[in-house]
Parts: sequence; structure tokens; C-alpha cells
Amino acid sequence: MRILILGGTRFLGRATAQLAVEQGHEVTCAARGVSGVAPAGVRFVPVDRDDPQALAQLAGESFDAVIDVTRQISHARHALAALADHVGHWSFVSTISVYADNTTPGQTATDAPVLPPAPADVDGPVGPDHRWYGECKVSIERLVREWMGVDRSFICRAGLIVGAEDPSDRFPYWVRRLSAGGEVLAPGTPSDRVQFVDVADLAGWLLHAADTRLGGTYDGVGPAMSRADLLNGVAAGLGVADPVLTWVDQEFLLAHDVREWSGERALPLWVRLPESAGLLDRDAGPARDAGLAVRPLPDTVRATASWMRAHPADVRQGGLDPADEAAILREWKAVRDR
Ligand SMILES: NC(=O)c1ccc[n+]([C@@H]2O[C@H](COP(=O)([O-])OP(=O)(O)OC[C@H]3O[C@@H](n4cnc5c(N)ncnc54)[C@H](OP(=O)(O)O)[C@@H]3O)[C@@H](O)[C@H]2O)c1
Repeated sequence: MRILILGGTRFLGRATAQLAVEQGHEVTCAARGVSGVAPAGVRFVPVDRDDPQALAQLAGESFDAVIDVTRQISHARHALAALADHVGHWSFVSTISVYADNTTPGQTATDAPVLPPAPADVDGPVGPDHRWYGECKVSIERLVREWMGVDRSFICRAGLIVGAEDPSDRFPYWVRRLSAGGEVLAPGTPSDRVQFVDVADLAGWLLHAADTRLGGTYDGVGPAMSRADLLNGVAAGLGVADPVLTWVDQEFLLAHDVREWSGERALPLWVRLPESAGLLDRDAGPARDAGLAVRPLPDTVRATASWMRAHPADVRQGGLDPADEAAILREWKAVRDR
């Protein structure tokens, strides 16, 4: 295939470009080159999509497939206007942040309610909390369907993406923490559900979707699993036998200013229950049936750990620091064993 990746200089876009080259496709990546570099073997076209005419230079070419990762509505609109007429299939990487209901587990993409589109004066996510992120993705999904038609557009609403080159502190926190050994603070209960998708698996599915002209809207998620299986799976991937997990009650953590999801004092892949019980527990069946092949968790862990070892400066250092973790564990055990 002749594939155009709008992006391709970091994480998912880059993994997709890399895999496409390995599969023998003719790959063009269009981006600024600010976030990183596109992989070897692609044709890199420098463009700044803030310029509405940026993609006009590619409008004379035809592509079997476009894969776009943008969060900016105008970027999508201009790309579709320039390219839709001579593209066979369009994949848009959206997000599960489009959903309006994060509480109900087991929801399916085709019937779950989504947020309204972004207001007219919003073009992209705003500020450190990425306000309007989900709404902007909803707006872009609509544009893609309008320009390409439902049958030629693949809307992939990715869940938490993990693996090598992860720019976030989320999955890498657990890889770092389990590899450090000792008593590990495990949040919530062993049976809490967690869900994510390996970046290489998602890349493979995007290319499969392009190749088979898959149309429609799907969640790009692997099967949900228990948090105990997650933490034991991370340990298994690292070759750590019998990790010592101490499960700490959610309310105790919240009362001690331990935060959910990501950032300073946060425990990643932990969200408040029952309010967020739907966030990490969506129906993975449609994606599996449409060709998303999921590798075993220890393989994802090994790929992440080996990237972390090779590129320590690129690994974001977030989460609970060891001294805080030890102090909270001491206080928790004093309360628990009283
Ligand atoms: N990470 C997760 O857990 C997660 C979860 C759900 C959904 N998602 C979605 O998955 C996608 C991930 O994409 P990704 O990993 O490839 O990373 P990304 O951070 O979304 O990358 C954005 C890409 O767009 C390019 N870009 C940004 N501004 C540009 C501009 N003005 N002109 C041209 N290119 C521009 C960047 O390249 P340059 O900066 O080099 O130009 C980069 O290649 C995103 O759509 C995200 O919303 C992510």
C-alpha cells in the first residue's frame, strides 16, 4: 500500500510507520519533526498543519490509506479537504475520552453515548488538563465520516496506549516499580478492572484496517483484566518472582492525597470506583473480532523495559516516589492491623 501517516514522529504514529515499513509498504509521514523523528525507511514531508495550505503539496498524489492522529479540528478539516478525493481509506485515531459515561462497565463503541462536539470557538485541547480533548475528537470523527463516508473511514477510539516509547508516566511507573522490588503499594483491590492496548498491537491493527478497508467505529482496547493480573503480569515480564503486593484501600489513598491516573503522587492505571468503573473496562470483543491481535502482557512489559533501559532520558518520571510510598504503607498497616 501507499500509506500517508499524518504524524509518525512519536509513539503510536511512529510505531505504525515503523511497522508499515517492515511490512513492505511505501510510507510517507507528514509532520513538523518537532516531537521526534520519523523512522528510517519512510519519506518524511515536513509540514506545519497550523498552515491551512500545508498539505496542498501532497494533494497531487494518491494514497491507498491515510492514518491521522490529530487532536486539532482544523488540522483534520484541512487534511480532508486536500486529500479525501484521492485516498482509498482513512483511519482516524480517536480516544475513549469521547465517551459521556465513564461509570458503566462493558460499554460498546456502537451504542455508548458520546460527548457533544467541541464548541465553535474551540479547535483543540486547552491547558494542562487538556480541556475539550474528547469533544475535539468527537468533532474530528464527524468530519472524517462526512468526507470519507462511513464505509471508507475507520474510527479507532484508543484506550490507554502502552509500550515502547510511551511519552507518559503511566505504564512505565509500574515497570519501574515492580523492577525495583520490595513491598509494592497496590491500589484498591486485586479484582479491580484495568484495560490498555499495546502500541505495537494497535499499530498492527491500524495497518490491518487499512489493508482490509475496515469501516466503522471501534474501541482500540485489549481485554480488561484484574489489577492483580496486571501487576503479576508486569512482574512476570520482568522476571520478578512472587512480587510482594500490599493492597491499600481506595479511601485511605484518597485521604492521603494519593492521586489517580497520572502525574505527581499518582498511581497510574488506578481510577476511583465506582465513579470511573467504565473507563478501564470496555467491551474488547468488537476490536478482537475485527482483527486486533493482542500479545501477552509479559511481551509488552519486556518491550517497555528494554526501551526504558536504552533511553532513560526519554522516560517520564511521574507517580508516587519511593519515600512517600513507604510512608503510606507504614500508616496503612498501622490502621489495618489495629
Ligand atoms: N497515549 C495514549 O494513551 C492515548 C490514549 C488514547 C488515545 N490516544 C490518541 O492516540 C494518538 C497518539 O498519537 P501519537 O502517539 O502518534 O502521538 P501524538 O502526541 O498524538 O502525536 C501528534 C503527532 O502529530 C504531529 N503534529 C503535532 N502538531 C503538528 C502540526 N502543527 N503540524 C504537523 N504535525 C503536527 C506530531 O509531530 P511533530 O510534533 O513532529 O510535528 C506528532 O507526530 C493521539 O491521537 C491521541 O489522542 C492516545
